[in-house]
Amino acid sequence: PGELPALASSRGIELGVAVAVDPLRDDPAYRDLVADHYTSVTAENTMKWEHVQPERGRFDWSGPDTVVDFAVENGLDVRGHTLLWHNQQPAWLSEGSYDADGLRAIMREHMEALLGRYQGRVSSWDVINEPFVDDGPELRGNLWLDTLSEDYIAQALTMAHEVDPEAELYINEFNVEGPGPKADALYALASDLLERGVPLHGVGLQGHFVHGTVPDDLARNMARFSDLGLDVEISELDVRIPEPVTEAAVAEQGEEYRRVVEACLEVERCSGVTVWGVTDAHSWIPEWFPGHDAALPFDPSYRPKPALNGMAEALGRR
Ligand code: G3I
Repeated sequence: PGELPALASSRGIELGVAVAVDPLRDDPAYRDLVADHYTSVTAENTMKWEHVQPERGRFDWSGPDTVVDFAVENGLDVRGHTLLWHNQQPAWLSEGSYDADGLRAIMREHMEALLGRYQGRVSSWDVINEPFVDDGPELRGNLWLDTLSEDYIAQALTMAHEVDPEAELYINEFNVEGPGPKADALYALASDLLERGVPLHGVGLQGHFVHGTVPDDLARNMARFSDLGLDVEISELDVRIPEPVTEAAVAEQGEEYRRVVEACLEVERCSGVTVWGVTDAHSWIPEWFPGHDAALPFDPSYRPKPALNGMAEALGRR
């Protein structure tokens, strides 16, 4: 193995990576990169609702099993991603119309199947993904909010805790890494849930950054969640570079990865940093942000970039 897993463990944090099922099955070099450099994995897509339960009552475990079996074989933790999200829902779910009891029954069936199957092997779950609108403090309208009211968040966390009392339950969100109205709204939501005794254990700040805009006050913002008694994780880190991608920008990106890991280490209850993809050949960025690329710590030929070194330096490599 490389040096990162031992360094991360010695500093008490996870260093994770999002994985895709096809290369995990077909590409030994991809598997080696994951096993050699990380301590945990997140399924980039295959544990999402549309993949797990494409038709009501029909579950497809082939992808999730591939990820979890790989993790167990290699001694890696698994972050479960994700239960309630407005994207990647199957048509039967998003196009159906339900009353509150009907929707709660669907939620319970899904959680019992998914959390039940991986109980003890998946240590944490993103129960709620992206509950706020893209750039503001309002809750996002979605199937769950529209049917169950704003209380859907508390209901889902409570239900997930009943189904798997050992799992760490997270709310995961983007555009909340630095302080601002949306981060304040997440903080207020988390505080309110904790005051009400709702089983919330952590918040994931996704960390999809643009090169040059990694916030300076990341650690300060993370610390206030930690001070609430919550775990806090950078859950989907990538740093996309506007094209043309220069060697200088890639070197600076290495410093940005270093700063993000350093921020985590400064925060008492930061549980880890997860990078959103294994190599630049597997990243979601070119498809979703044309004109940006090279967001991850390995290049398309699987060679390490300065970002990998930046993370090792942050973790105190001597
Ligand atoms: O499965 C189809 C395949 O059959 C088809 O041939 C192919 C052709 O384009 O598309 C495949 O679907 C792709 C899917 O990932 C794979 O399951 C979609 O095109 C692609 O758009 C989809 O993107 C994913 C995205 O979530 C969808 O919402 C990204 O890979 C994934 O990285 C991204 O992850 C999200 C997190 O879950 C939540 N936070 C934001 C993050 C980035 O959007």
